[in-house]
This record gives sequence, C-alpha cells and structure tokens, in this order.
Amino acid sequence: MTPVEIKKGIYWVGAIDWNMRSFHGHTFATKRGTTYNAYLIVDEKITLVDTVYGPFAGELIEKIRAIVPLEKIDYVVSNHVETDHSGAMPEIMKLCPKAKVYGTRKCKEGLYKNYYGNWDFQEVKTGDTLKLGKRTLTFIEAPMIHWPDSMFTYCREEELLMPNDAFGQHLATNTRFDDEVDQCALMEEAAKYYANILIPLGDIILRKLDEVLKMKVPISMIAPSHGIIWRKDPERIIKSYVSWANNETKKKAVIVYETMWKSTEKMARRIAEALTDSGVEVKLFDIAESDRTEVIKEMLDARGYLIGSSTHDNDMLPSIAALMSVLKGLKPKKRVASAFGSYGWGAGATASIEKELKGAGIEVVQEPISVKYVPDKSEEKKCYEFGVEFAKKCI
Ligand code: FEO
Repeated sequence: MTPVEIKKGIYWVGAIDWNMRSFHGHTFATKRGTTYNAYLIVDEKITLVDTVYGPFAGELIEKIRAIVPLEKIDYVVSNHVETDHSGAMPEIMKLCPKAKVYGTRKCKEGLYKNYYGNWDFQEVKTGDTLKLGKRTLTFIEAPMIHWPDSMFTYCREEELLMPNDAFGQHLATNTRFDDEVDQCALMEEAAKYYANILIPLGDIILRKLDEVLKMKVPISMIAPSHGIIWRKDPERIIKSYVSWANNETKKKAVIVYETMWKSTEKMARRIAEALTDSGVEVKLFDIAESDRTEVIKEMLDARGYLIGSSTHDNDMLPSIAALMSVLKGLKPKKRVASAFGSYGWGAGATASIEKELKGAGIEVVQEPISVKYVPDKSEEKKCYEFGVEFAKKCI
C-alpha cells in the first residue's frame, strides 16, 4: 500500500494490522483489527510524527522511501512511548541517525528503557514549538491520556491535531478517513476504545480538552494513531469524548452473568423482562460466552449494571470475577448496580459481587437477590419485581 496524502505535503505512512485480534496482552479484543498511524510532514525540515509497531517497521520504511530518502528525515516526534507507536524507532533511527527526537521528559525515559538508543533527544513541554519551514508544530503534553509520557502535536497552519491514542479506534480498513467507512462500525469502535481504555481518565480528559479549547486552536482534522482520520466532522468525536468523560448515560441496563446450571440465567432473563416492561433498554450477556471488550463498551452509556453469578466455592465464578477485576480498574462513575445469583448451600457470590462493585466505586442501590437451586414460580416473580425496582434507579 502506498502513502496517503492527508493534507498537501503531509502523508499517512502507517500500517494496517488486519489480523490483530487481542491487544494490550489480551485485555482488549480487536475483532476489526487495527492500524498504527504515522505521519510524514514534508517541509524545509522533514518530520516523522510517531512510528508503528515493530513488526511493521518495514512497511513504514517502504512508505517513507516512496516520498523521501530516510536519511533526509530531520525530526522524529514521539507522541507516546508505548510499543505499538514506538516499536519501529530503533529501525528508523538506524536509517536517519542524525534526526533529532522530540517528546516529553517521560517519553525520553520510556524510550531509553525500551530501546536503550543513544538518540539526540529534545524534551518538550506544553506550548513549545518546532519550526519546520512553512509550518510550525506546537506540542501539548497530555499526561495520562493515556500514559504519563503522552503528548499531542498540533500544526496550526494545517489546523491538524495529531493526538496519538486519543480519538483513535481499533479499526483496520483500506480507507483512511471518517467519511469513507461504515459509520456504525466507526462509532462503535471509537466507543469501545474509550470504554476499555479511557473511562478512568474522564476528569483528566475534560481538563485537557478545556485547555486545548482555551488555546483557541482551530482543528479541521484529527489524525489519531489508530484507525481512521477525522476530516469530515472532527467535532463529532470531540463531543462524544466530552459526553463520555462526563459519564452521560441513558436509561439502559447491562445484565451480565455467569451460570453453572442455568438457574442464574433464568433469574437474569426474568429481570431483563421486568426492565424491558419498565421501558429500560437492556443488554444481556453470559460473560463466559461473550467478548468482555464488547460488554464494557455496552456499559459506557448504561446507567445500571446488574451482575449475576452462581455461587461456587462460596464465591462468584471465575469469568465474572475477571470482569469485576476490570471494572475495579475502570471505576465508572455515576452508575447504579446490584447483584443476583443462584446457590446450592451458601449464597457467597452475591456478597462477593456487592463487595467488588463497591470497590469499583459503583453505588449498590438495591439489596442483591439470591435463590436456592432452581427458582420456582414465586422466586421468578421476586426476580421480576427486583427488575421492576431496579428499573426505577436507571433513570
Ligand atoms: Fe496505541 Fe497507548 O498505545
């Protein structure tokens, strides 16, 4: 694949990873693959903004060579040290050893501890600029969006923001722009990315967006480091980020459970019926059969979470325990929750789930419901009533 000119003299020189199915050490299922976006700016000074994951270094080099010889690169901007964007740095720096690397202080530390390269590194802070010729780059530190080293790079003359991971999506396509892809898939992947990586960082994101807006920088294009480039409507993704970071939710509940012999599942279905009859949108998942990344994505705009498990060894089952561990890390705010489950001789699962929910900072608004063995008709009715009551909390 050849480079793609995204603005006059600015090229996408990244790589498409069609087969990537699990990211971040299997914490993120990437069913649509991903891309690693790098950008080459051809001006009086030739500048590469970010690289790609190491196994794709050859593709990056080939694309750059189609535009300029590698040794002509003057500057390499490293917005983020994580290996999916810096993995090709050693190969690149071998081919343009005189290039100066720009990044934050944490980026300098991180690059060294990953690659031990003796590169000419210029630390930058928010507001520092780099004159390329006709264009000037402005750097904006963005710590914890999503690593301490993270940074945005902005080109005022082109109204182009290159924010690395922010506003990205794990979406492998042979087209590069937002107006060229299926819109449902695009927003689904953008939401999935936010939900699974950025939920705990909402307050930091809001402060950073506010800071960028106060800088009064016009933005006509956002070119992230994963997925498509926002050129038709960059405001759309900014507005979505503001909404997600503000924890705006709707009248929706996610019911997620794990079941041994289908009794907990029976409870889940009665509860789902009650929520549906009460006008609440419901998503129901058997976690053992579901993509956890997808479940977390559905939790992004849901007000209520109902977590169920059969009791096993006086505790919850292992797949639901893994979900609770993820929720404890994400700490979603302004949500309400409760627990349910069937047991044989001791109801330990619901108590454990309640404890984990509280540990995740999620308000448990209703006493959990437990049923011994298989729910009979009166217990099914109690599950339904439990759902009706929870529906009132999902507004
Ligand atoms: Fe896409 Fe934080 O790396």
